Amino acid sequence: MTERHDLMAAIDGDIEALMADHIAKRPTWYAHDLVQWEIGRNYNDEPWDESQCTISPEVREALVLNLLTEDNLPYYHYAIASGFGEDSAISRWTRRWTAEEGQHAIVIRDYLMTSRNCDPVALEDARMQTVTRGWDSPWTDPIDIFVYTSAQELATRVSHRNTGVKADDEVAYEIMKRVAADENYHFIFYKGIVSAMMQHDPSACVLSMKKVYENFNMPGTVVPNFRKRAAYAARAQVYDLRIHAEKVLTTVMRDWKLESIEGLTPEADEAREAVLAMPGNLIARAEKLERRMAKAG
Ligand SMILES: [Fe+2]
Ligand SMILES: [Fe+2]
Repeated sequence: MTERHDLMAAIDGDIEALMADHIAKRPTWYAHDLVQWEIGRNYNDEPWDESQCTISPEVREALVLNLLTEDNLPYYHYAIASGFGEDSAISRWTRRWTAEEGQHAIVIRDYLMTSRNCDPVALEDARMQTVTRGWDSPWTDPIDIFVYTSAQELATRVSHRNTGVKADDEVAYEIMKRVAADENYHFIFYKGIVSAMMQHDPSACVLSMKKVYENFNMPGTVVPNFRKRAAYAARAQVYDLRIHAEKVLTTVMRDWKLESIEGLTPEADEAREAVLAMPGNLIARAEKLERRMAKAG
């Protein structure tokens, strides 16, 4: 028995309770209710052309990046499922979570195909490249996994929600609002796991936060031309350094009451100070970047 195996066993009941709460609260929804099928046309009769697009190029890139990131779901499933026994509460959750995540790519793809807001050939080529490349999670310790997934789900919620708002399109708005709501339920679940872990080993959780947030990357980094696509998303104010600091890191720290956790080892106490300083440091970096961009026109 490893220390982490014991920790997971100790919070098994908490995970069951979080899952029951999630199932009771998350509304069931259907992609077909949200997609505007009546505007869809046959691509053989009427090939795609950029002039058919109705939303800005920046938001289109953000939508495609969000979709390709969702498309890589098999690897996210593997990253979590491979670490835990088939019969554990976390494995039952992971199967349920995977089923919910699957709908996100379905609805975003249906929207893009019917509204013609992306090149269908480029999209499929990029999907093939993304999923063929796969994704290796850098996190294998259960504490790191859930410290990461908490922030990652919240970041995804923010990114989907902003994409829907910036699309300036009623259908995209409703779809992305629905997907973002799902990501928020996932965030609440994973955040709850870390809260339960903190009851047993607060120092290990804080040390993990420092390690994970210092090296935080969204899983979409494996998408072809990620840097270019992310630059578009930043330009559309869908996601950038400042949003990461203000809407993601600050929120998780506040929700976990990081400042007032008691009983930390001196090393974890030092790590806490470093984590608390992260949003401010990131905002200073964002401001420097913003000044440089303003200067460059
Ligand atoms: Fe998702
Ligand atoms: Fe999610």
